[in-house]
Amino acid sequence: MTAPAHAPELPSPYQLVQLGGVDSTNFEARRRAENGAPDSTVIWATSQSAGRGRRGRQWSSPKGGLYFSILIRPEYPAATVMQLGFIMANAIAGAVSSALPGTAVQTKWPNDVMVGGKKISGILLESESTGDNRVSWVIIGVGINIETHPDKINSELEATSIAAEGGDASIEKMLSTIMGRFDAGFNEWQELGFVPVRGAWLERAYGLGKKIIVRLPNETIPGTFKQLDESGALVLAVDGEQEDRIITAGDVFLSPITNEVAKDEMD
Ligand code: BTN
Repeated sequence: MTAPAHAPELPSPYQLVQLGGVDSTNFEARRRAENGAPDSTVIWATSQSAGRGRRGRQWSSPKGGLYFSILIRPEYPAATVMQLGFIMANAIAGAVSSALPGTAVQTKWPNDVMVGGKKISGILLESESTGDNRVSWVIIGVGINIETHPDKINSELEATSIAAEGGDASIEKMLSTIMGRFDAGFNEWQELGFVPVRGAWLERAYGLGKKIIVRLPNETIPGTFKQLDESGALVLAVDGEQEDRIITAGDVFLSPITNEVAKDEMD
């Protein structure tokens, strides 16, 4: 059967599995991983009935968005696997930036992409450990608001989409562009390590050097976003404390003080 003219083109060796509706492309990728699907399988769906975000949240997934998951069977230590999320965030930020020329696009720790302080994309990274500091698979799940977006994401963060920001990128083109950029970033990472990934991510980092609030499951920590360390953790200068905290998981928000300054600067 001939592929439709607008079918997404993926770089070698990625293999596309194109679906209509699915519960979640991450679930589908996981089922396929458990049934022996090869490295570099990409599951792309038109909509999801049970789209999932980080920390068990829901990801709104009607038609008009881009939802896909990449299955990777890595040969490197489990500790470095989280860096794949930064490679993907850089790829998405670059693709969104091309679709919205002249608009600032930011990367938000750990793996979000923001436009004008609103979330346009999120990444859900899941892996299965083999118990010897290795993983048997990693799934990088990506959601991008293209033609549509929910009002808010996780009740606190405003959302936006390519269309709402005045762009008109097609979903297929966006998938091809992101996969091209991801592949280039992934190859560079395999050759040179995390340094260039970290550098590119920091150039767009949301809240860097500013007052932020880090929310953990049982704790909320105010401080200043000092750095991204050499592993991908957030270095937080905690308000009123001498010692920095190294944050490896959590949600980041601009503190109300920083938000007020940002609003004043825009007025
Ligand atoms: C987040 O920001 O919380 C992560 C959102 C990740 C959403 C994508 S959509 C494709 C893949 N399938 C899912 O169920 N989730 C990810």
